[in-house]
Amino acid sequence: MCGIIGYIGKKQQAKEVLLHGLHTLEYRGYDSAGMALWMQNQIQLIKAKGKVSVLADKVNDDAINSHIGIAHTRWATHGVPSEHNSHPHQNKRVTLVHNGIIENYHILKEELLQHGYTFTSETDSEIAAAYIDYCYTQTNSKLEALSKAYHELKGSFAFGILFDDDPSTIYAMRKQSPLVLGTSEDAQFLASDISAFLAYTNRYIILQHEEIAIIKEHQIEIIDLQQNVLPKEVIVSELDVQAIQKDGYDHFMLKEIHEEPQAVEKTIHSYMQDSIEELKESLSYLKDIDRIHIVACGSAMYAGMIAKSLIESQARIQTDCVCASEYRYQQPIYTKHTLAIFISQSGETADTLAALQMAKEEGCLTLGIVNVVGSSLAREADHVLYTKAGPEISVATTKAYCTQVALLSLVACYFAMKQNLLDANNISNINKDLKNISSTMESLIQQTSYRDLAKHLYEKEHIFFLGRGLDYALCMEGSLKLKEISYIHSEAYPAGELKHGTISLIEEGTPVIALATDMDLYEKTLSNIKEVKARGAYVILLISENLKEHVTNDACDDVIYVPETSKFLQGVLTIIPLQLLAYETACLRGCEIDQPRNLAKSVTVE
Ligand code: F6R
Repeated sequence: MCGIIGYIGKKQQAKEVLLHGLHTLEYRGYDSAGMALWMQNQIQLIKAKGKVSVLADKVNDDAINSHIGIAHTRWATHGVPSEHNSHPHQNKRVTLVHNGIIENYHILKEELLQHGYTFTSETDSEIAAAYIDYCYTQTNSKLEALSKAYHELKGSFAFGILFDDDPSTIYAMRKQSPLVLGTSEDAQFLASDISAFLAYTNRYIILQHEEIAIIKEHQIEIIDLQQNVLPKEVIVSELDVQAIQKDGYDHFMLKEIHEEPQAVEKTIHSYMQDSIEELKESLSYLKDIDRIHIVACGSAMYAGMIAKSLIESQARIQTDCVCASEYRYQQPIYTKHTLAIFISQSGETADTLAALQMAKEEGCLTLGIVNVVGSSLAREADHVLYTKAGPEISVATTKAYCTQVALLSLVACYFAMKQNLLDANNISNINKDLKNISSTMESLIQQTSYRDLAKHLYEKEHIFFLGRGLDYALCMEGSLKLKEISYIHSEAYPAGELKHGTISLIEEGTPVIALATDMDLYEKTLSNIKEVKARGAYVILLISENLKEHVTNDACDDVIYVPETSKFLQGVLTIIPLQLLAYETACLRGCEIDQPRNLAKSVTVE
């Protein structure tokens, strides 16, 4: 959701660095792009509706020569996607790019109108530019103006700012929205994430709330809102530029699915080597928990649903899984020993962060399950467990989801051991399955021609997913994956629920993807599957390998066998065929797989 990049340095043309950064940030989702460049003693704006490539065509002009600039990909919130609403926004002496939402923009706008300001866009961001200019007029100091604006602008923001009387500096500040600063000897950068400048430097500084960055060609100075200079740690990123390339795959999504076995292995081995019993010590801070809330959005919430099912069934601890945007308004009930788990790939999802804030205010112990190191969620939760998915570029999550499920399975194992509900035999079987999990995942990725199966799906208008228990939680994610990238309407239903109404939608040829990998429930699920098959549904059945004898003509048209593993790990296997079916279906429909329409990777607005 909105991407920011800024550059100052002599070595490269600003337009090249900014375009490269914007391309790298495309994965966040956007509908227009723009840049502001210092050229011939003034700031020039170049904007384009649509793709970064349209902007690239506009700046592909030898006359455009600059070494300092800021740029932006916009995901529309206030005002339609258009050139005049796209960033950078300029109002009087201030030009800025903004990620976030200024919640009190209409009040500030009224005030600014009274002081003679006029506006050319419908955005809250232009109000911010004008308001900073207004503060500059009042204080006659850029830093005081930024500090005053910081206090007055409500909501969330990451800004890259140029003043038209200061051609050698970029200013930056943030509240909630992400912003990192890249540094090298002869060039400095700011960006929404480090991938945007990783081709130039792997050294970066995390800008915190209530800090202002003063960025010049050879140095970055960080000050607080009272203008005290702050010491800053330069971090060296271990990220490899290779990790953000497609590496010969047609899409990042496919590459990322192929990376799942490794990512899951890495995640598991960060917390245990040989036995889940090692978790007793590493997770001992979770010892007195009697109730659990799991809070997240989208796929992360569906990973949470798997954890809920496992923790309740295997550890017998009451667990609720709620989407973050509802959680805050449900007036959740906390016991003295409630643990609230917040799951997020980006660690920047606004709803999840707001829910975390509320749980903390209620005095609840909080645990973040996060992929991006140093993200807001990672910093703000009491404890954090990192998934080791590496950078995920495709907007639709695959490997990050898989690592969330794997890590939550370990948390569920911990609680089950804590409650003395796993005996030595159970523990030894889980350890064996954990050892094999990545090779089993690899074989499942290669196993079937998912493209052939997708041929039965890609021309359909509606597709249903059916399953019970853990399988139902997986159906929710499988259905989300399919609809977000292929734009085919799909619904996930608990297998037993369909006949209470929705079965009327099943007609000759309606595709049903049915899951029967939950060994405790497969018999009942199979009966439900036969009910839809008898009404003409085209059934693709995902079933555990050891249930082969149940695969009959009255149960399915096609079958995918999923290797059997411990209940704790079943989710990371069963999801793979669903992700690949979604991927192949979207490919056959010619969809833009890595950047589906209207979606953003990091949803930094509530
Ligand atoms: C779907 C997807 C989203 C995210 C959700 C939460 O493929 O990626 O549903 O899971 O927006 O994002 P994070 O995990 O960054 O909090």
